[in-house]
Amino acid sequence: MTKNGKEEDPLWDRRLDKIIDDFLHLGKCDLLLDVGCGSGFWMRTLMRQLTGTSNTIGIDYDKSRILSARKGFKRRTEFVIADAQALPFKDGTFDIVTCRRLLMNVKHKDEVLGEMIRVSRFRGICSCVEPDFKNISEFSSVQKESDIYKKIESDSEADLEFGPKAASLFLKNGLQEVDVWSYCMTNKTLPPYGNVEMNRLHGSRSLEDATKKLLTNISRKEKKALMMSASKIDEERKKQIKQNKYSKIEIIPFVVTKGTKSKTTTSTYSKL
Ligand SMILES: C[S@@+](CC[C@H](N)C(=O)[O-])C[C@H]1O[C@@H](n2cnc3c(N)ncnc32)[C@H](O)[C@@H]1O
Repeated sequence: MTKNGKEEDPLWDRRLDKIIDDFLHLGKCDLLLDVGCGSGFWMRTLMRQLTGTSNTIGIDYDKSRILSARKGFKRRTEFVIADAQALPFKDGTFDIVTCRRLLMNVKHKDEVLGEMIRVSRFRGICSCVEPDFKNISEFSSVQKESDIYKKIESDSEADLEFGPKAASLFLKNGLQEVDVWSYCMTNKTLPPYGNVEMNRLHGSRSLEDATKKLLTNISRKEKKALMMSASKIDEERKKQIKQNKYSKIEIIPFVVTKGTKSKTTTSTYSKL
C-alpha cells in the first residue's frame, strides 16, 4: 500500500523512480506529453517525480483507455483521444515527449517518432521505454505455463524486441545526445498473496482464451491440442492458487532510450 492507502502499481518497482527522474531530468519539466498513454500506467510513474507545478497530457487513440485514464487522475493532467501519427499540438510545445510500449506496436515508427520530435521544444527530450521480450525469463510452479505464454507472445504483430533497436531509430531521426539505460521489470507472484497479487491473478485472462485468439497459421489439430493443454494449465493454476502454492516470477528486460532535439534535428519523417 502507498502512504495515502491506495494500491501500489503492481507492475512497477518503485526503486526505479529515482533513476527515471535522473535519466529524463523530470525536475526540469514544465509540460510533458505521454503518447499512447493507455490507462495511464507510465504517466502515474512519471507524475510521482514531477514537481508540483508541472503539467502533463496523455494521448491515446483508444477511447475506452482514455476514459479509464481520466478516472484515475484528478490534477494537472489532461487526457486526449488522438492518433500518435497526427498529434494535435503545435510545434515545439513540450519539454519532454515520452512513450512506453507504443513504438513496438506501431507500423510507422518514423512517423510517430517524427511527430514526437515535432511537438518537442528545442533542447527538449524525446524518450521511449520498450521491452526486449526475447530475453524474458520466466519461472512458474505450473509446468509448461511459460511455454504457452511464449507461444502466445510470438504470435503478436508487434516488434517484441524493439527495446534495443530504439536508439538507432532515434539517431536516424536526427536526435542528439542519444542515451540508453536498461533495467528489468520483475513481476513476482508468490504466496501468501496480498491484494496486488490477488488483483493480478484474477485480472489475467485464461490461457485457453488467449490461445483461442492465436492468429498464427497453425493447423486446426495443432490449435485444438494447444487449447487443451492451455485449459489443463488454467485448471492446475486455479488449484495451486486455492492451495496457496502457485508461484511465478517474470523478469522482463526494458530499454529506456532518450535523445535531445537540436536545431539540426532533421527527422526522416517528411511532414517535419
Ligand atoms: C501496450 S499499450 C501501453 C500503454 C501505456 N503506455 C503503458 O505503458 O502502460 C499501447 C498503447 O498505445 C496505444 N496506441 C497504439 N497505436 C496508437 C496510435 N497510432 N495512436 C495513439 N495511440 C496508439 C494503444 O491504444 C495502447 O493504449
